[in-house]
Amino acid sequence: MKRFALKDYGPAKEVLIEIDSEPRLVDETHVRVELVAFAINPYDVALRQGAMRDVRTLKFPYVLGNDGAGIVTEVGKKVTHVKSGDEVIVHAIGGTYGEEIVVPGKKIVKKPAMMSWEVAAGMVTPWLAAYHLVTHLLGESIGETVMVQGASGAVGSLLVQFLKEQGKTVLASAAKRNESWVSQLGVDQFVAYDEADAGKIFADQADTVIDATKGGRAGEAGMQIMKTGGNFVALNELPKEQKKTGNYFSFGPAKEYLDFEALTALTKLADKLQLKIAEVLPFTLASVIEAHEKLEGHPAAGKIIIKKEK
Ligand SMILES: NC(=O)c1ccc[n+]([C@@H]2O[C@H](COP(=O)([O-])OP(=O)(O)OC[C@H]3O[C@@H](n4cnc5c(N)ncnc54)[C@H](OP(=O)(O)O)[C@@H]3O)[C@@H](O)[C@H]2O)c1
Repeated sequence: MKRFALKDYGPAKEVLIEIDSEPRLVDETHVRVELVAFAINPYDVALRQGAMRDVRTLKFPYVLGNDGAGIVTEVGKKVTHVKSGDEVIVHAIGGTYGEEIVVPGKKIVKKPAMMSWEVAAGMVTPWLAAYHLVTHLLGESIGETVMVQGASGAVGSLLVQFLKEQGKTVLASAAKRNESWVSQLGVDQFVAYDEADAGKIFADQADTVIDATKGGRAGEAGMQIMKTGGNFVALNELPKEQKKTGNYFSFGPAKEYLDFEALTALTKLADKLQLKIAEVLPFTLASVIEAHEKLEGHPAAGKIIIKKEK
């Protein structure tokens, strides 16, 4: 079975390799999925570069990838919500960069028929973050006005749409080149951070500020925008100096955030949510390397998806 693995930490061209793996056995709680598409996340790039090695040490060869979509080919006898032949969305702790994966049944849901393979694969991690942050980390305390920084990104754009579904007033920032994409998601006000100072324009207006920029680059402006005593949530590390009184959260996965619940919610909202796909690349090692190299920079908005011919 073909998979794309890291042989070490380092530059994409040097450390990403193709390997041939033995299929894993499926026990009674697991499911085998033949993957049709998988997504590349900024997190994968950080893992490859070794930026997370203190908190997450990898054992090589290591197959990256948390997000995928595919067809069920084998089902453990305790798994009752899917059967062989079903099209599913998959969340894995590593391993989706390949032809198949074996995952616990509770980490997959049926893919809505109207959802494309690329959108299904691309949604997973960004949606889980958006859903759990809003629903569980903050809940009612989120308030009425929410600022989304990095609103053009996968997480940011899903946050905007989920918050608008809940009737919130959403302020947003992103690069000027992404203004039309973000505006049509329904934001109430938009500032292009590369043209104007969002921190000044929206100063003290948001009950909650969510910094969903890559690497967390918008902390300074975000703290200006948060009302005193409001919430500031970083998808990455929090700003070192917290200049205003408020509740500061660094969002990350938690045991009590259930994939099955979040992915089921995704399937219910599927016809309302948009996800921008920047590129769909063929299922080759060269594609994986190309995607990693692009994500190291500041590419056009949208997910990069690797997809098999189907
Ligand atoms: N903690 C968690 O559980 C979790 C889960 C998912 C994601 N994340 C993290 O959240 C971040 C966003 O993920 P994503 O998948 O949404 O990434 P993405 O789709 O690549 O989006 C990146 C966002 O960052 C913005 N950005 C990039 N460079 C910027 C700069 N120099 N200044 C200001 N904004 C900039 C982009 O806006 P423009 O292009 O418009 O500038 C875009 O909105 C990543 O760092 C990711 O690792 C964390």
